[in-house]
This record gives sequence, structure tokens and C-alpha cells, in this order.
Amino acid sequence: MKLIGLTGGIASGKSTAAAILRRLGAQVIDADALAREIVQPHQPAWEEIVETFGKDVLQADDTLDRKKLRTMVFANPEVRKQLEAITHPKIRRLAQQKIANCAAAGVSLVVYEAPLFFETNIHRWLRPVILVACDTMTQRHRLQQRDNLTQSEIEEHLGAQMSLEEKRKLADHIIENNGSLADLEKKVEALVKTILAT
Ligand SMILES: Nc1ncnc2c1ncn2[C@@H]1O[C@H](COP(=O)(O)OP(=O)(O)OP(=O)(O)O)[C@@H](O)[C@H]1O
Ligand SMILES: [Mg+2]
Repeated sequence: MKLIGLTGGIASGKSTAAAILRRLGAQVIDADALAREIVQPHQPAWEEIVETFGKDVLQADDTLDRKKLRTMVFANPEVRKQLEAITHPKIRRLAQQKIANCAAAGVSLVVYEAPLFFETNIHRWLRPVILVACDTMTQRHRLQQRDNLTQSEIEEHLGAQMSLEEKRKLADHIIENNGSLADLEKKVEALVKTILAT
């Protein structure tokens, strides 16, 4: 089984690249989906979050009030740390479990898509890692278009991440995603061929 990591800054095109990889036959494991899974009502991360922050962070149906948590996180770095200390190890364990399941099932190509790849040191145990990069103008434009964010919300999101320069140094392969979808497709296909050949 070949295992590849996939990361990139917010709205840089990770999920779009992941969709292309799926079409090429890869089994994609999405860290964002795992993060949502572990905080479902009465799952371990949910329990710990409620213990730590109180029932104020729940909505009427017991699901997490993500908007409220996001506001708390952006207002207080300590909250982010506490939340990450609860969720990151659980996301990692679940990812490793899913990767092991893929191996056992005889899947030939697995991609682990994670936005905080380097921040959470996944590159220490999973390589090679592909960085999807795009210039800041393009990134802001895509973020604004997709999520309809205000200027200050965009700054908050961009400011919370490791700089692209740092990520470039840590990546094994970089896909520049400033062009069209067709360009991205071609680049992903070519890179997968290269990786599978090595
Ligand atoms: N090459 C491209 N051409 C045009 N639009 C693109 C291209 N790549 C990505 N996009 C668009 O940019 C937006 C962000 O892309 P995508 O959702 O794949 O990014 P992401 O890195 O997964 O973001 P997030 O960090 O929020 O999960 C989407 O609306 C997507 O359709
Ligand atoms: Mg995405």
C-alpha cells in the first residue's frame, strides 16, 4: 500500500485535489471528517469538551455549537490549545486506525488529507507529503467566494496557520494551484505517477 499525505493552507485546494485523487482510485481519509466524527454527541472528545467548557458550548440537540467554539478559540489562544489537546490525539488515533484498515483491506493507494499536517507533526510518521499551494491573492479570493467571509474573518483564518514558506520547506512535493481546475488535474495526475514510480 502506498500512503501519501496531502495538506495546504485554508482554501488552497486540498479537497479539490483530494477529489481528483479519488477519481484516480485513491482511498482518501479526510482529517476534517474525522474531527467532526469524534465530537458527535457522547463520543469521547465531545464528553471532554463539555467537561472542560461546560454545556454552554452545546446546541439544543446536544451537538457542539461550532460557531460559538470558533469565536471562543479566536478570542483566546488558550482555548485553542485546550481544544486541540482534546481533539488532536483522538483524530490521530482514528486516522491511524483507518489507515491500518485500508492496509488490511488491500487498498493500494491511500491519501490522508489534513489541514494542520505540519502543525501536528504528521510528517514525522507519514511521508511523502504533498503541499497544495497558491498565492495569497488567489487564496483570499477563493476563501471569500466560497465562505462569504468578511475581511477580518479572512485575516483571522490566515493568521491562525503556519506560514506557507514554512510549509514549503517541510513538504516533499508542492503543487502550485493558481491556475484552472484542468491545470490542477494535470499536475495531480503527473505527481501521482511520479510518486507511484518511486
Ligand atoms: N484550480 C482551481 N480553479 C478554480 N477554483 C478552484 C481551484 N482549486 C480550488 N478551487 C476552489 O477554491 C475553493 C477552495 O478549494 P478547496 O475547498 O479544495 O480548498 P481546501 O484547501 O480544501 O480548503 P479548506 O482548508 O477550507 O478545507 C473551492 O471553492 C474550490 O472549488
Ligand atoms: Mg477542504
